[in-house]
Amino acid sequence: MKKRLIIGNWKMYVETQDGATDFAKALKTKMRALPNVEVGLAPSYIHLPAVALALKRSTIGVGAQAVSRYHADAHTGDVNAAMLKNAGASFVILGHSERRALGETDDIVRKQMLEVAGLGLGIVLCVGEREQDEGGEHFEFIKTQLTSALAGHSKKTFSNLIIAYEPVWAIGKHAIDAMKPSEVHETFIFIRKVLTGLMEKEQALKIPILYGGSVEASNAAAYIKDGGVQGLLVGHASANLETFLPILKAVNK
Ligand code: PGA
Repeated sequence: MKKRLIIGNWKMYVETQDGATDFAKALKTKMRALPNVEVGLAPSYIHLPAVALALKRSTIGVGAQAVSRYHADAHTGDVNAAMLKNAGASFVILGHSERRALGETDDIVRKQMLEVAGLGLGIVLCVGEREQDEGGEHFEFIKTQLTSALAGHSKKTFSNLIIAYEPVWAIGKHAIDAMKPSEVHETFIFIRKVLTGLMEKEQALKIPILYGGSVEASNAAAYIKDGGVQGLLVGHASANLETFLPILKAVNK
């Protein structure tokens, strides 16, 4: 069985460095009982080095929630891809809808992608419609997000790519309000098809596609089983072990 990839996007939920490192260390001890799960944690920038240190010699990856579109020079408050790698990140989340809502356009995400490519970091590219419409126009929206970010990249970059499908309307709620696994499956097939148009088919088939948006322990396994996705991007339920561990256990089965 191929491992399920579960990424915890801590957003600003985990507030202190001790809280972040205690969580990481506690999770590390649980991983042996979860042989079918691969886990990545995305703490805030400021906790990333400490979490990376706490997870040294563990299978858990550490990533950043965002990255600068710039390479260097005068960009107050920004953190570039090389700095993240240097701080211990093994992956970066790009284009999260909460970043897009702050003004990150497709063009900015495209520039971030150019900065991250070539560094060997895992790239978790988030795409997803703001709302669904019966005419299916949201599929075109997702296609544009994918094409804008990925067109022209090399095979090597694609080998580090993960797509996270996160319908914006389904983020930050509870399992009961989340997208149905059957609907996720429909979009999953669509995304796979778009990827096939952007790279060689063999490579497109290898790219993990995750679902994110109100994933909790009660719905996690169904997204894998019925939604067809290779893993999950988990927000609020990843922010403490009491809610995150049951998700990992559910998908480990
Ligand atoms: P949520 O967040 O699980 O709290 O809906 C998911 C995300 O934004 O990545």
